[in-house]
Amino acid sequence: MQSLVVDPGLEGVVVGATDLSNVEGLEGRLTYRGYDIHDVAPNASFEEVCYLLLFGELPNRHQLADLGVRLAANRALPPQVLAFMQATPKDAWPMDVLRTAISSLALFTPHLEDGAHASNPRSAIHLIAKTPTIVAAWDRIRRGLAPIAPLPNLSTAANFLYMRTGRPPIAEAEKALDTYLVLLADHSYNASTFAARVTASTRADIYAAATSAVATLEGDLHGGAPGKVMKMLLEIDRPERAEAYVRALVASGERVMGMGHREYKVRDPRAMHLEAMAKTVGEASDPRWYDIARALEDAADRVLREAKPGRRIYANVEFYTAPTLYGLGIPADEFTCMFACGRMAGWTAHILEQLANNRLIRPQASYSGPVAVPWIPVERRGSAPTPVEAHA
Ligand code: COA
Repeated sequence: MQSLVVDPGLEGVVVGATDLSNVEGLEGRLTYRGYDIHDVAPNASFEEVCYLLLFGELPNRHQLADLGVRLAANRALPPQVLAFMQATPKDAWPMDVLRTAISSLALFTPHLEDGAHASNPRSAIHLIAKTPTIVAAWDRIRRGLAPIAPLPNLSTAANFLYMRTGRPPIAEAEKALDTYLVLLADHSYNASTFAARVTASTRADIYAAATSAVATLEGDLHGGAPGKVMKMLLEIDRPERAEAYVRALVASGERVMGMGHREYKVRDPRAMHLEAMAKTVGEASDPRWYDIARALEDAADRVLREAKPGRRIYANVEFYTAPTLYGLGIPADEFTCMFACGRMAGWTAHILEQLANNRLIRPQASYSGPVAVPWIPVERRGSAPTPVEAHA
């Protein structure tokens, strides 16, 4: 009989290869195509990282300018997508709007005879360019304001901030958001990237695979955490209240959002850069959120060491995302959408990598249901009510 390895979380299971990024969890090292994140974060622009991920090497000046022109040409949304957003209830969850809008882009993109859309660097750039425009447009529409068209001469980060407020951002704000997008651009086979690769492995096109990725990002064990980090910071309100808050949280069996990682057994290497960003952004806006986050990280370290001895639970990328984005004026329920703006670069590069050397991803499950059950005719199945009410 075939021996089965059952690992529901695929922890430590290698399911494929990638040239795009490498996470070395014990050492706390992250590289994009061999470049250390500690070199990339302070030096690269988001556009350079997009180029690196999509084309395999750092761009020269001409290539970088060319990508900038292509992104600018692709930023505006089809009027039908804007019209759908205008018709959407204003209280719709931003990630629901983003996921639906990303999927809808396929409707206004020419398709091949079999209905599929071309999956290539052009369609990747199309998706990378439009994601921040969708997020900024919904931010305004939900506030009852008209969306603002992107400007051709602004970077991805500056354009996003401009499209939210109508004012080109100060250099520090652009740099902070740009660094955030750089840090979030790729992270090997995380859940949303894996979902994108599974979808692409069926030979579904890049729009279908990117939609899978956005859907998978939403949960708070993945990209949904930073909004909940912000909720904690708001509830804590003052740094001196952090320890009592985290003690009560852990005592009630809750998790400290923004802490812990499946891969990293040390502090997430991206946290250092985001912490610096959160501090800088806080100095220009309100230092309180950085100060509370700093106190919360220290308190959580102490409390989790006591509560979970032997576990190594440290700040992850989401922790300082919260005070950074909040300090930039972005509301907490849009944080996961911001994650998607950066990660669209990695998702699309992974989808193209999967398609270039494809094998259908189709794991097995160990069957745990009943066996050899005799058939019961409908008239002999009793009269119990449908158990729908129990799930109200
Ligand atoms: N707060 C409190 N306890 C935590 C924790 C956290 N943030 N993260 C992990 N733990 C504990 C678990 O309760 C569990 O303890 P137990 O063995 O006593 O039950 C143990 O550590 C292992 O947790 P597990 O869920 O198996 O680890 P994982 O590898 O699946 O965890 C995460 C990875 C990210 C899902 C987890 O750390 C988490 O839920 N973090 C909070 C949410 C978050 O920040 N998500 C964004 C990830 S980038």
